[in-house]
Amino acid sequence: MTLGIERVGVVGGGRMGAGIAEVCARAGLDTLVCEVDATAARRARERVAASLERAVDRGKTDRPTAEHALARLVFTGSLDDLADRHLVVEAAVENPDVKTEIFTALDKIVEEPGAVLATNTSSIPVMRLGMATGRADRVLGLHFFNPVPVMPLVEIVTSLHTSAETASAVEEFAAATLGKTAIRSQDRAGFVVNSLLIPYLLAAVRMAESGFATAADVDAGMELGCAHPMGPLKLADLIGLDTVASIARSLYEEFKEPLYAPPPLLQRMVEAGLLGRKTGRGFHTYD
Ligand code: CAA
Repeated sequence: MTLGIERVGVVGGGRMGAGIAEVCARAGLDTLVCEVDATAARRARERVAASLERAVDRGKTDRPTAEHALARLVFTGSLDDLADRHLVVEAAVENPDVKTEIFTALDKIVEEPGAVLATNTSSIPVMRLGMATGRADRVLGLHFFNPVPVMPLVEIVTSLHTSAETASAVEEFAAATLGKTAIRSQDRAGFVVNSLLIPYLLAAVRMAESGFATAADVDAGMELGCAHPMGPLKLADLIGLDTVASIARSLYEEFKEPLYAPPPLLQRMVEAGLLGRKTGRGFHTYD
């Protein structure tokens, strides 16, 4: 099946949604981003503009290409505007109820024949979202990594109902159009990457929590001792501590393994609004 994906919709313009929209626009696609209101839409546009500016500064793209990409992005406050999209990628908050509601609505709205609905969830079962629609064969996970314009991977997650044609068409789109490398995962909480990454991040939180080592030393250990680009607590701050906690809860709910249980310090930090980079303070502080 060739999907002929030219018109893409992205639901949510946060860090992940804005990154996905940027990658689509840079690939020359007609890209429509849906946000909850005009203020959120303006912030999403600013995020993309700032990232494109960085890409120009780092020599990853030239200015005219970046300007064209920004001009190609359209923002809307209404899901109804996504009716003619060939592919919609949902990148809303990591909350099962919110995502289910969005999929129920998208199923009624997106009327392009053969259109695919994808979720950027990190851990919520794709099946649950597929079953909220009347087209579970054309629902799958398309999971990007943060920062989206920089990280080359996507995970393609198929539920028991996702058709083989849908999975291979989206995999081809991710590679040929977006320039990403795809890996396949079955529909288990955490998929491939977060199943490995989250227990590691939680172990680092427990180290800092118990006083075993300071946050700075935990991070320096993995950066300088294992050549990771950033230590686990800096990475948790980048992902967002609320997102880390919510992926941990999904993993714990699915597997009931203690290593997936969010440590009390992580939960208290989320309750305190110390969410990492996006709020200026997590395990480290940011300007
Ligand atoms: N567009 C395109 N390229 C960009 C860019 C942009 N907006 N901003 C930076 N880059 C490029 C730079 O040019 C550079 O490329 P080269 O190495 O080829 O020169 C590279 O990205 C790194 O950029 P910088 O050197 O400016 O920045 P840095 O050294 O501070 O690195 C980082 C920042 C990329 C975030 C790096 O620290 C890193 O890779 N961290 C780990 C990130 C990670 O593990 N992400 C996965 C999170 S898990 C997840 O997302 C899944 C989930 O569900 C939770």
